[in-house]
Amino acid sequence: MNARPEQLAAPTRLDAYRAPAWRVETVELAFDLAIDTTEVTARLRLRCDPTQTQPLRLDGENLELLSIALDGTALAADAYRYANNVLEIDGARDGSVLETRVRLRPAANTALEGLYLSGSAEAGFLLTQCEAEGFRHITFFPDRPDVQALYTVTLRADRDRFPVLLAGGNPDGAGELDDGRHWARFVDPHPKPGYLFAVVAGRLQSIERDYLTADGRAVTLKIWAEADVIDRCDYAMDALERAMRWDERTYGRNYDLDVFHVVATHDFNMGAMENKGLNIFNAKYLLADPGSSTDDEYRHVESVIAHEYFHNWSGNRVTCRDWFQLSLKEGLTVFREQSFSADMNSAPLKRIEDVSLLRRAQFPEDAGPLAHPVRPAQYSEINNFYTATVYEKGAELVRMLAGRLGREGFRRGMDLYFARNDGKAATLEDFLAALGEANHTDLGPYLAWYAQAGTPRLQARGEYDEARRSYALTLRQHTPATASQAQTHPLPIPVKLALFDRDGRMMPLHMDAQTSKAATETVVVLDTDESTFVFHDVPSAPVPSLLRGFSAPVILECDYDAAELALLLRHDPDGFNRWEAGQQLATLAYAELRDGAPGHALDAWLGALSDLFARGEVEQALLANLLTPPTEVEWAEREARVDPARIHALRQQLQRQLAERIGAEALQQRYRTLAGEASAALDAASQAQRRLKQRVLELLCLIAPDVAQPLAAAQYDSAPGMTDRLGALAVLLRSDAPQAAAARAHYRQRHADNALALDKWFTVQAQVPGEAALDRVLMLERDPAFTLKNPNRVQSLLGAFVRANPSGFHRADGAGYRFLAERLVQLDALNPQVAARLATAFNGWQRLEPGRRQAARAVIEDVADRDGLSRNLREIVANVLK
Ligand code: ARG
Ligand code: ZN
Repeated sequence: MNARPEQLAAPTRLDAYRAPAWRVETVELAFDLAIDTTEVTARLRLRCDPTQTQPLRLDGENLELLSIALDGTALAADAYRYANNVLEIDGARDGSVLETRVRLRPAANTALEGLYLSGSAEAGFLLTQCEAEGFRHITFFPDRPDVQALYTVTLRADRDRFPVLLAGGNPDGAGELDDGRHWARFVDPHPKPGYLFAVVAGRLQSIERDYLTADGRAVTLKIWAEADVIDRCDYAMDALERAMRWDERTYGRNYDLDVFHVVATHDFNMGAMENKGLNIFNAKYLLADPGSSTDDEYRHVESVIAHEYFHNWSGNRVTCRDWFQLSLKEGLTVFREQSFSADMNSAPLKRIEDVSLLRRAQFPEDAGPLAHPVRPAQYSEINNFYTATVYEKGAELVRMLAGRLGREGFRRGMDLYFARNDGKAATLEDFLAALGEANHTDLGPYLAWYAQAGTPRLQARGEYDEARRSYALTLRQHTPATASQAQTHPLPIPVKLALFDRDGRMMPLHMDAQTSKAATETVVVLDTDESTFVFHDVPSAPVPSLLRGFSAPVILECDYDAAELALLLRHDPDGFNRWEAGQQLATLAYAELRDGAPGHALDAWLGALSDLFARGEVEQALLANLLTPPTEVEWAEREARVDPARIHALRQQLQRQLAERIGAEALQQRYRTLAGEASAALDAASQAQRRLKQRVLELLCLIAPDVAQPLAAAQYDSAPGMTDRLGALAVLLRSDAPQAAAARAHYRQRHADNALALDKWFTVQAQVPGEAALDRVLMLERDPAFTLKNPNRVQSLLGAFVRANPSGFHRADGAGYRFLAERLVQLDALNPQVAARLATAFNGWQRLEPGRRQAARAVIEDVADRDGLSRNLREIVANVLK
């Protein structure tokens, strides 16, 4: 590898944005494709303001320049310069045509950015990944999203080796060439930035479906995959059709090409990619079948299919001006995807899942040295900013806006946003302006949410005045400073709330004298440091249910006592807040155990849950969630000197107490009832039944392993689907059951040829808690199926270990940290994006207890001192040390 001068480059800054001096009107690309070397010819028709004086500069990385011509004349060597990934050319004018020819080496591209090979040289296929800055690895181009051009793409390749040739846009001819080669051409009628460009070539099979859009366009939907997995694409096709109908119904958005291609690959850095007309998916989010996919995976396929499809409008038709606006498309599209999934499945369960993810992944990011605003102010490597903050917190911000405008108002705003910005590269200001103007309201204050990092703390204090029969709710906000921002400001925080009487009934809310017909739920907006909201005609001291449905991405600090939380846990009809009350109560119970003083909270939590369990009036999936305390990661967030082993032990203890309170007998009986109904059906009720059954088995195993282990072994043997099989295997492994080894070996053999099923085999073992985890991971690395070259495999073993096994990774002797550091350096040489993402596992080291903190610091500093790190890994390591 050559030296990487970009290591030293200054960060890119939002406030340094300048409109491009040069634009590209049309691009004609021709690919002569082969595995080892591919040649790319590009003809760009250039535009500029004729009075401007900037020379033409094009991005280009790892390109071997073969020839270059301007307006039909080959350029002399002194008429251009190619250095530091920029090609500078003299003599270009408005209307000039530039032709370049370059050579690429796809088989040697282990970074999986630009054009690369998926699978083996003999059997694999070629594909591209261009977001964010991969297009410059394919051809010389102004590789920025505000340069949008019309594309014509011609692919040429050997017909036997590459029978299928695909590019984005509509097909525009195909035919034979001499010497066994063939060609295919595609024309995209919609202008697009380079990051949405894609090609795919190889031996692929497809399934196909005709689709008629609401506005009358006949579209062919095609899903492509390698022959051995093509029979696992049907679920994705159904999900795609559901997503397309939903976007027509909900947002009036229709698809806009004659074909829509989706391709599955096992070699992909991220989840999936919305290339115009040619989505490319990590196989993990596309393939699904009952024998090897869990219920969760089915739901993920549905939501990622929807996410990428929704980008066709929120991302492609309206794209981002620059990468600082990334959340303009990602936050919005995650929100759209979440709403779709809520409509397809259970809305409260989806909300619980999304908020849990936010707390597990985004809150820690926002609380540590990697904190950045949803619209960051600067970056060194943009790929490092595809974060939970940009995606998940970004979606929460859109949700707040949607809530503020109401369903119809939000739709009006979205219609205006799409109409006004269609074909353009927009900013978050454009988004807020359209939403606001369509509703004659100023949403400007919400921009502050995009600019400020850190999770706001919302403090609530209620006071009941018996004589006046009034209730005063005082809300206060404060956002702690972060590494990048010392000063923080108040934000508009919508707080959806209800008041409960002591029998668990919602009270009518009267906020001013005029209200005649009182609702039982309302939204107040706190947009200053502190404000008091007064409710009248309140007959008795109420219990407030605050932030219902998680109406803002904040941390609520309210001095509830255990009895109040238990009341909400028992009675709140808002499924999310009911769960939330249970989580808060569990956290109080956890604190009691930690302080060696089990008391009211523990008792209230155990009492409420064992009642709910016995009465059986709570829906099964929600009950399973209620029976699950917050994760170890969430509890670590609340502590100043984190000892992950102790948190794990306390959480186990809490769950054991819960199991004991419910009783082994009752658990066993419920398990048998639920197991009696076992099927592989995918409907919501069957999924809920499996989820509850799993939770019951886990609880039972904590107090009666001798009973639970044989049940788990039997469940493993007779499982009708992957959810039951994997769940059983997890219970056996975690309890170190005598049956574990046989099940583990059986699974390995049964799924030897199924990469995604094998990934789960690595993951379930990597997640077994405790000090012995590292040795297990080292042993698993020696499995012949393990490789650092495949991102999914790396995530399945290393990612699962460092991110989802705190008591294992944070081993007291620091061996987990040394292990990660070593792998990061190895991985970085192959795939910087994957290395950088894995390195974020070091986030939060500053709050570890002193022994672990010192060990972690030494290891991270050691990585930071290495020469030759990628810009990706260097930036994460440097930031994590701040
Ligand atoms: N736009 C893709 C999505 O749907 C993510 C692609 C990110 N790729 C990357 N290399 N950073 O979310
Ligand atoms: Zn996306």
